[in-house]
Amino acid sequence: MSISHLQADHVTRRFKIGTDTLTALDDVSVDVAKGEFVTIVGASGCGKSTLLRLLAGLDAATAGQIRHAGADVSEPSLNRGIVFQEPRLFPWLTVEQNVALGLLNTKLVKARKAELVREHLELVGLGGFATVYPHQLSGGMAQRAGIARGLVSRPNVLLLDEPFGALDAITKARLQDELQEIWAKEGVTMVLVTHDVEEAVYLGDRVVVMSPRPGRVREIVPVTLERPRRRTSAETAAVRDRVLTSLHATGEAGTPVSRPAQMPEQVRPRPAIAIAR
Ligand SMILES: Nc1ncnc2c1ncn2[C@@H]1O[C@H](COP(=O)(O)OP(=O)(O)OP(=O)(O)O)[C@@H](O)[C@H]1O
Ligand SMILES: [Mg+2]
Repeated sequence: MSISHLQADHVTRRFKIGTDTLTALDDVSVDVAKGEFVTIVGASGCGKSTLLRLLAGLDAATAGQIRHAGADVSEPSLNRGIVFQEPRLFPWLTVEQNVALGLLNTKLVKARKAELVREHLELVGLGGFATVYPHQLSGGMAQRAGIARGLVSRPNVLLLDEPFGALDAITKARLQDELQEIWAKEGVTMVLVTHDVEEAVYLGDRVVVMSPRPGRVREIVPVTLERPRRRTSAETAAVRDRVLTSLHATGEAGTPVSRPAQMPEQVRPRPAIAIAR
Protein backbone atom coordinates (compact mmCIF):
# COMPACT_ATOMS: atom_id res chain seq x y z
CA MET A 1 0.00 0.00 0.00
CA SER A 2 1.25 3.43 -0.87
CA ILE A 3 2.05 5.83 1.96
CA SER A 4 1.72 8.77 -0.38
CA HIS A 5 -0.45 11.55 1.06
CA LEU A 6 -0.39 14.05 -1.77
CA GLN A 7 0.34 12.83 -5.23
CA ALA A 8 0.79 14.14 -8.73
CA ASP A 9 0.43 11.06 -10.91
CA HIS A 10 1.68 11.46 -14.50
CA VAL A 11 0.36 15.00 -14.68
CA THR A 12 0.45 16.98 -17.91
CA ARG A 13 -0.87 20.53 -18.22
CA ARG A 14 -1.14 22.19 -21.59
CA PHE A 15 -2.26 25.74 -22.23
CA LYS A 16 -3.79 27.00 -25.47
CA ILE A 17 -2.20 30.26 -26.50
CA GLY A 18 -3.89 31.43 -29.68
CA THR A 19 -3.41 28.60 -32.15
CA ASP A 20 -0.40 27.23 -30.26
CA THR A 21 -0.32 24.75 -27.43
CA LEU A 22 2.18 25.22 -24.63
CA THR A 23 3.07 22.20 -22.53
CA ALA A 24 3.75 23.69 -19.10
CA LEU A 25 4.04 20.31 -17.36
CA ASP A 26 4.84 17.05 -19.08
CA ASP A 27 4.20 13.75 -17.30
CA VAL A 28 5.12 15.00 -13.83
CA SER A 29 4.89 12.53 -10.96
CA VAL A 30 5.61 13.51 -7.35
CA ASP A 31 4.59 11.64 -4.20
CA VAL A 32 4.56 13.47 -0.89
CA ALA A 33 4.33 11.47 2.33
CA LYS A 34 2.26 12.64 5.29
CA GLY A 35 4.25 15.08 7.38
CA GLU A 36 6.98 15.38 4.78
CA PHE A 37 8.57 18.69 3.73
CA VAL A 38 9.10 18.63 -0.02
CA THR A 39 10.68 21.51 -1.89
CA ILE A 40 10.44 22.05 -5.65
CA VAL A 41 13.16 23.99 -7.41
CA GLY A 42 13.50 25.02 -11.02
CA ALA A 43 14.15 27.90 -13.39
CA SER A 44 11.55 30.55 -14.09
CA GLY A 45 8.83 29.20 -16.35
CA CYS A 46 9.46 25.51 -15.69
CA GLY A 47 5.93 25.04 -14.34
CA LYS A 48 6.39 25.27 -10.56
CA SER A 49 3.39 27.52 -9.95
CA THR A 50 1.33 25.48 -12.41
CA LEU A 51 2.13 22.33 -10.45
CA LEU A 52 1.32 23.98 -7.12
CA ARG A 53 -2.00 25.28 -8.45
CA LEU A 54 -2.87 21.78 -9.62
CA LEU A 55 -1.96 20.33 -6.21
CA ALA A 56 -4.17 22.97 -4.59
CA GLY A 57 -7.09 22.16 -6.87
CA LEU A 58 -7.09 25.69 -8.32
CA ASP A 59 -6.52 24.34 -11.82
CA ALA A 60 -7.19 21.04 -13.60
CA ALA A 61 -4.65 18.77 -15.31
CA THR A 62 -4.89 18.07 -19.05
CA ALA A 63 -3.91 14.48 -18.30
CA GLY A 64 -3.02 12.56 -15.15
CA GLN A 65 -4.35 12.81 -11.62
CA ILE A 66 -3.81 14.75 -8.42
CA ARG A 67 -4.73 12.85 -5.26
CA HIS A 68 -4.87 13.96 -1.65
CA ALA A 69 -5.45 11.42 1.10
CA GLY A 70 -6.50 8.91 -1.53
CA ALA A 71 -9.18 11.10 -3.14
CA ASP A 72 -9.01 12.82 -6.53
CA VAL A 73 -8.44 16.56 -6.25
CA SER A 74 -10.81 18.55 -8.45
CA GLU A 75 -11.32 21.76 -6.47
CA PRO A 76 -9.72 23.75 -3.65
CA SER A 77 -10.20 22.44 -0.13
CA LEU A 78 -9.82 23.81 3.37
CA ASN A 79 -7.56 20.80 3.89
CA ARG A 80 -4.99 22.34 1.57
CA GLY A 81 -3.74 25.78 2.55
CA ILE A 82 -1.89 27.93 0.04
CA VAL A 83 0.59 30.78 0.48
CA PHE A 84 1.48 32.92 -2.52
CA GLN A 85 4.67 34.72 -3.43
CA GLU A 86 3.16 38.09 -2.59
CA PRO A 87 1.11 38.15 0.63
CA ARG A 88 -2.16 39.05 -1.19
CA LEU A 89 -3.65 40.84 1.82
CA PHE A 90 -6.67 43.09 1.33
CA PRO A 91 -5.51 46.61 2.30
CA TRP A 92 -8.91 47.60 3.72
CA LEU A 93 -9.04 44.66 6.13
CA THR A 94 -7.08 44.32 9.36
CA VAL A 95 -4.56 41.53 9.83
CA GLU A 96 -7.06 39.41 11.75
CA GLN A 97 -9.78 39.99 9.17
CA ASN A 98 -7.35 38.97 6.42
CA VAL A 99 -6.41 35.80 8.28
CA ALA A 100 -10.10 35.05 8.94
CA LEU A 101 -10.59 34.88 5.15
CA GLY A 102 -8.99 31.46 5.38
CA LEU A 103 -12.12 30.37 7.28
CA LEU A 104 -14.61 31.91 4.87
CA ASN A 105 -16.16 28.63 3.78
CA THR A 106 -16.28 26.96 7.17
CA LYS A 107 -19.37 26.50 9.29
CA LEU A 108 -17.59 27.29 12.55
CA VAL A 109 -19.27 29.59 15.04
CA LYS A 110 -17.91 33.13 15.29
CA ALA A 111 -16.17 32.56 18.63
CA ARG A 112 -14.31 29.50 17.33
CA LYS A 113 -13.22 31.41 14.23
CA ALA A 114 -11.89 34.22 16.39
CA GLU A 115 -10.05 31.70 18.55
CA LEU A 116 -8.45 30.02 15.53
CA VAL A 117 -7.39 33.38 14.09
CA ARG A 118 -5.84 34.39 17.43
CA GLU A 119 -4.05 31.05 17.78
CA HIS A 120 -2.55 31.25 14.30
CA LEU A 121 -1.51 34.88 14.65
CA GLU A 122 0.36 33.82 17.81
CA LEU A 123 1.87 30.90 15.91
CA VAL A 124 3.44 33.20 13.31
CA GLY A 125 4.49 35.82 15.88
CA LEU A 126 1.83 38.41 15.00
CA GLY A 127 -0.12 38.15 18.25
CA GLY A 128 0.18 41.88 18.92
CA PHE A 129 -0.77 42.96 15.39
CA ALA A 130 -4.31 41.63 15.01
CA THR A 131 -5.96 44.99 14.46
CA VAL A 132 -3.38 46.74 12.32
CA TYR A 133 -3.72 47.17 8.54
CA PRO A 134 -1.41 45.59 5.94
CA HIS A 135 0.33 48.90 5.09
CA GLN A 136 1.52 49.02 8.72
CA LEU A 137 3.38 45.71 8.33
CA SER A 138 6.90 45.02 7.06
CA GLY A 139 7.30 42.61 4.13
CA GLY A 140 8.23 39.77 6.48
CA MET A 141 5.24 40.45 8.75
CA ALA A 142 2.90 40.53 5.77
CA GLN A 143 4.23 37.16 4.65
CA ARG A 144 3.71 35.81 8.18
CA ALA A 145 0.09 36.95 7.93
CA GLY A 146 -0.16 35.07 4.62
CA ILE A 147 1.14 31.93 6.32
CA ALA A 148 -1.35 32.35 9.18
CA ARG A 149 -4.18 32.63 6.64
CA GLY A 150 -2.92 29.49 4.90
CA LEU A 151 -2.87 27.55 8.19
CA VAL A 152 -5.93 28.94 9.96
CA SER A 153 -8.33 26.28 8.64
CA ARG A 154 -5.92 23.64 10.00
CA PRO A 155 -5.18 22.08 6.63
CA ASN A 156 -3.08 18.94 6.64
CA VAL A 157 -1.17 20.22 3.61
CA LEU A 158 0.35 23.67 3.17
CA LEU A 159 1.42 24.66 -0.36
CA LEU A 160 3.81 27.59 -0.61
CA ASP A 161 4.72 29.35 -3.87
CA GLU A 162 8.04 31.17 -3.45
CA PRO A 163 6.80 32.68 -0.18
CA PHE A 164 10.06 34.40 0.72
CA GLY A 165 11.17 35.43 -2.78
CA ALA A 166 10.69 39.14 -2.21
CA LEU A 167 12.35 39.36 1.23
CA ASP A 168 15.85 40.47 2.19
CA ALA A 169 18.32 37.72 3.10
CA ILE A 170 18.12 38.17 6.88
CA THR A 171 14.30 38.25 7.03
CA LYS A 172 14.18 35.33 4.62
CA ALA A 173 16.46 33.20 6.82
CA ARG A 174 14.37 34.04 9.89
CA LEU A 175 11.11 33.13 8.17
CA GLN A 176 12.58 29.88 6.89
CA ASP A 177 13.43 28.96 10.47
CA GLU A 178 9.98 29.95 11.68
CA LEU A 179 8.32 27.91 8.95
CA GLN A 180 10.44 24.91 9.87
CA GLU A 181 9.41 25.27 13.52
CA ILE A 182 5.74 25.47 12.54
CA TRP A 183 6.15 22.36 10.42
CA ALA A 184 7.77 20.43 13.27
CA LYS A 185 5.20 21.61 15.79
CA GLU A 186 2.03 21.26 13.73
CA GLY A 187 2.80 18.12 11.76
CA VAL A 188 1.52 19.71 8.56
CA THR A 189 2.76 18.36 5.22
CA MET A 190 4.62 21.11 3.35
CA VAL A 191 5.26 21.58 -0.36
CA LEU A 192 7.34 24.69 -1.03
CA VAL A 193 8.22 25.99 -4.47
CA THR A 194 11.32 28.13 -4.83
CA HIS A 195 14.00 29.12 -7.31
CA ASP A 196 16.45 29.38 -4.42
CA VAL A 197 18.54 26.21 -4.20
CA GLU A 198 19.85 27.12 -0.75
CA GLU A 199 16.30 27.42 0.56
CA ALA A 200 15.24 24.17 -1.12
CA VAL A 201 18.09 22.24 0.53
CA TYR A 202 17.78 23.96 3.89
CA LEU A 203 14.08 23.12 4.25
CA GLY A 204 13.38 20.01 2.20
CA ASP A 205 13.34 16.35 3.18
CA ARG A 206 13.55 15.92 -0.57
CA VAL A 207 14.21 18.42 -3.34
CA VAL A 208 12.32 17.97 -6.61
CA VAL A 209 14.48 19.40 -9.38
CA MET A 210 12.49 20.51 -12.42
CA SER A 211 13.66 21.22 -15.94
CA PRO A 212 11.92 23.70 -18.25
CA ARG A 213 10.14 23.58 -21.63
CA PRO A 214 8.34 21.38 -21.06
CA GLY A 215 8.34 21.25 -17.27
CA ARG A 216 9.50 17.85 -16.12
CA VAL A 217 10.91 16.29 -12.98
CA ARG A 218 14.58 15.90 -13.67
CA GLU A 219 15.60 14.39 -10.37
CA ILE A 220 14.45 14.07 -6.79
CA VAL A 221 17.32 14.63 -4.37
CA PRO A 222 16.91 13.29 -0.83
CA VAL A 223 18.31 15.56 1.91
CA THR A 224 19.30 13.43 4.86
CA LEU A 225 20.97 16.23 6.86
CA GLU A 226 19.78 16.33 10.45
CA ARG A 227 17.70 19.25 11.64
CA PRO A 228 18.35 21.89 12.73
CA ARG A 229 20.61 22.20 9.71
CA ARG A 230 23.64 24.36 9.36
CA ARG A 231 23.47 26.66 6.38
CA THR A 232 27.22 26.80 5.96
CA SER A 233 28.37 23.23 6.66
CA ALA A 234 30.30 21.19 4.10
CA GLU A 235 27.51 18.59 4.11
CA THR A 236 24.91 21.22 3.23
CA ALA A 237 27.18 22.57 0.49
CA ALA A 238 27.58 19.08 -0.97
CA VAL A 239 23.81 18.59 -1.30
CA ARG A 240 23.47 22.10 -2.75
CA ASP A 241 26.13 21.25 -5.35
CA ARG A 242 24.26 18.11 -6.28
CA VAL A 243 21.01 20.04 -6.79
CA LEU A 244 22.80 22.78 -8.76
CA THR A 245 24.49 20.22 -10.99
CA SER A 246 21.13 18.63 -11.68
CA LEU A 247 19.52 22.01 -12.38
CA HIS A 248 22.20 22.99 -14.84
CA ALA A 249 22.58 19.59 -16.45
CA THR A 250 22.69 19.97 -20.21
CA GLY A 251 21.24 17.60 -22.73
CA GLU A 252 17.63 17.15 -23.62
CA ALA A 253 15.50 19.09 -21.17
CA GLY A 254 13.75 16.77 -18.83
CA THR A 255 15.95 13.76 -19.43
CA PRO A 256 16.41 12.26 -15.99
CA VAL A 257 20.06 12.28 -14.98
CA SER A 258 19.30 9.62 -12.42
CA ARG A 259 16.27 7.74 -11.26
CA PRO A 260 14.04 9.72 -8.89
CA ALA A 261 14.68 8.66 -5.33
CA GLN A 262 11.98 6.65 -3.60
CA MET A 263 9.93 8.16 -0.84
CA PRO A 264 11.34 7.56 2.62
CA GLU A 265 9.88 4.38 4.08
CA GLN A 266 8.94 6.08 7.28
CA VAL A 267 8.28 9.64 8.19
CA ARG A 268 9.93 11.15 11.19
CA PRO A 269 7.82 10.96 14.37
CA ARG A 270 6.37 14.24 15.54
CA PRO A 271 6.69 15.83 18.94
CA ALA A 272 3.80 14.97 21.27
CA ILE A 273 2.59 18.59 21.23
CA ALA A 274 1.46 18.24 17.62
CA ILE A 275 -2.12 19.40 17.13
CA ALA A 276 -4.35 16.78 15.51
CA ARG A 277 -5.12 17.73 11.93
N1 LIG B 1 -2.96 30.37 -17.43
C1 LIG B 1 -1.97 30.22 -18.30
N2 LIG B 1 -2.17 30.39 -19.61
C2 LIG B 1 -1.17 30.22 -20.51
N3 LIG B 1 0.09 29.88 -20.19
C3 LIG B 1 0.36 29.71 -18.90
C4 LIG B 1 -0.64 29.87 -17.88
N4 LIG B 1 -0.07 29.62 -16.67
C5 LIG B 1 1.22 29.33 -16.92
N5 LIG B 1 1.48 29.37 -18.26
C6 LIG B 1 2.77 29.07 -18.90
O1 LIG B 1 3.24 27.86 -18.36
C7 LIG B 1 4.64 27.93 -18.16
C8 LIG B 1 4.96 27.64 -16.70
O2 LIG B 1 4.49 28.73 -15.92
P1 LIG B 1 4.63 28.76 -14.34
O3 LIG B 1 4.02 30.04 -13.88
O4 LIG B 1 4.09 27.52 -13.78
O5 LIG B 1 6.21 28.79 -14.16
P2 LIG B 1 7.08 28.95 -12.82
O6 LIG B 1 8.03 27.83 -12.79
O7 LIG B 1 6.18 29.14 -11.67
O8 LIG B 1 7.88 30.30 -13.12
P3 LIG B 1 8.36 31.45 -12.08
O9 LIG B 1 9.56 30.88 -11.35
O10 LIG B 1 8.75 32.58 -12.98
O11 LIG B 1 7.22 31.78 -11.16
C9 LIG B 1 5.09 29.31 -18.63
O12 LIG B 1 5.59 29.20 -19.92
C10 LIG B 1 3.81 30.12 -18.60
O13 LIG B 1 3.82 31.11 -19.59
MG1 LIG C 1 5.83 30.71 -10.34
